[in-house]
Amino acid sequence: MASPKNHRHHLPHPQPNGDFKTHVPKKPKVSTFISDSEVQSEFAHHDASVARLNNGSFGSCPASVMAAQQQWQLRFLRQPDSFYFNELTKGILETRTVIKNLINAEDVNEISIVDNATTAVAIVLQQIAWAFAEGRFQKGDVAVMLHYAYGAVKKSVEAYVTRAGGRVIEVQLPFPVSSREEIICEFRKALERGKVDGRKVRLAVIDHVTSMPSVVIPVKELVIICREEGVEQVFVDAAHGIGCVDLDMREIGADFYTSNLHKWFFCPPSVAFLYCKKSPKSLDMHHPVVSHEYGNGLAIESAWIGTRDYSAQLVVPSALEFVNRFEGSIDGIKKRNHEAVVRMGEMLAKAWGTNLGCPPDMCGSMIMVGLPACLEISSDADTLKLRAHLRESFGVEVPIYFRSPKEGEVCPITGYARISHQVYNKEEDYYKFRDAINKLVDSKFTCKLLHD
Ligand SMILES: Cc1ncc(COP(=O)(O)O)c(C=O)c1O
Repeated sequence: MASPKNHRHHLPHPQPNGDFKTHVPKKPKVSTFISDSEVQSEFAHHDASVARLNNGSFGSCPASVMAAQQQWQLRFLRQPDSFYFNELTKGILETRTVIKNLINAEDVNEISIVDNATTAVAIVLQQIAWAFAEGRFQKGDVAVMLHYAYGAVKKSVEAYVTRAGGRVIEVQLPFPVSSREEIICEFRKALERGKVDGRKVRLAVIDHVTSMPSVVIPVKELVIICREEGVEQVFVDAAHGIGCVDLDMREIGADFYTSNLHKWFFCPPSVAFLYCKKSPKSLDMHHPVVSHEYGNGLAIESAWIGTRDYSAQLVVPSALEFVNRFEGSIDGIKKRNHEAVVRMGEMLAKAWGTNLGCPPDMCGSMIMVGLPACLEISSDADTLKLRAHLRESFGVEVPIYFRSPKEGEVCPITGYARISHQVYNKEEDYYKFRDAINKLVDSKFTCKLLHD
């Protein structure tokens, strides 16, 4: 890749009385893109001894974005009152505008900025709990979610829906999965179960990219089914959404959609958006931390939840500047990550004589790769021990999933590694992982040899 001669990092700079729109970074006019060595220097703070195959859990933040974040922190500390009265609201509106354009929302008021997907889930589910408490929903009304919903989200459903009197139905998903139709079919079955005895399905929580095991869910199709079947509210948990899969709010058509920006959009921890489609359903949404702006609309409530560091939320335009240095901007990054993770996944599966957890067109920038059966991964505890062993003895960071074998399966694959690809990864990272597993296999290692 050629190096842009005149590239400047420019920091977000709302003018005291300027129109914020003029400061939303534009796509670069230069025809050259960030070079490989510039990419490496943007991530020079990463521990070089570790092959980092887990962008999925915590994402990554380049040096230029961290520098922009520090500038925001300094502006606050330099003159907090001026920052509060003159800059904060404008800066967050700029972030919301950037996101609105990236996700093709209709109106900037549909976008609220929150800390993370976990917070967005609490906002959506709290409103469900009130509907039960205030008698708009009846005990036994149903919420549907995927069996592979994120653990913390399941806890939130337990806290806000089950406790309020809701009945929760899980969509059982196969793994490995071979087609979208399998998921669609299981989803329809769960809705049917939900509607037994004339019950009302009030909510569907659908992941866009499941965490463990990781698969891209056909959300657009599932939202259509929800509409056909009269599901009242549809919430897409896309913690891994922006930068990992295509997202267009008008095409997807969910009522609520959240995505982290610190996972696949190069923001520092932590920042996420919650999209609430303009409709009467979204009028009663409130931030769980109540402050001065209560009642002024979720976007405004969320922009002041008390004194704290808002810099991660303000730095989103700088993250967009970073992605605009790459050919094709975020879409180009996403496409290349997808191609690379599939190529590396196939290389590993071939080297170990295993298989992928889903077809390539059902993954984004992460893919599940079967680990050799002879490692004898036989529990969740084994996956954690093996993961720690790979980190400590081989310098490889990769999450591992335990899959219970089905009855009668001969020599089943019970462990799948979830590999990620992000712009800083090199092929050597994946070769290091391949060689580590090969070494364990050659030495007749099994998980039984690992102690707590
Ligand atoms: C599907 C899913 N939902 C929610 C979350 C929670 O995200 P966060 O910890 O940033 O709130 C994650 C995190 O990995 C996730 O994968």
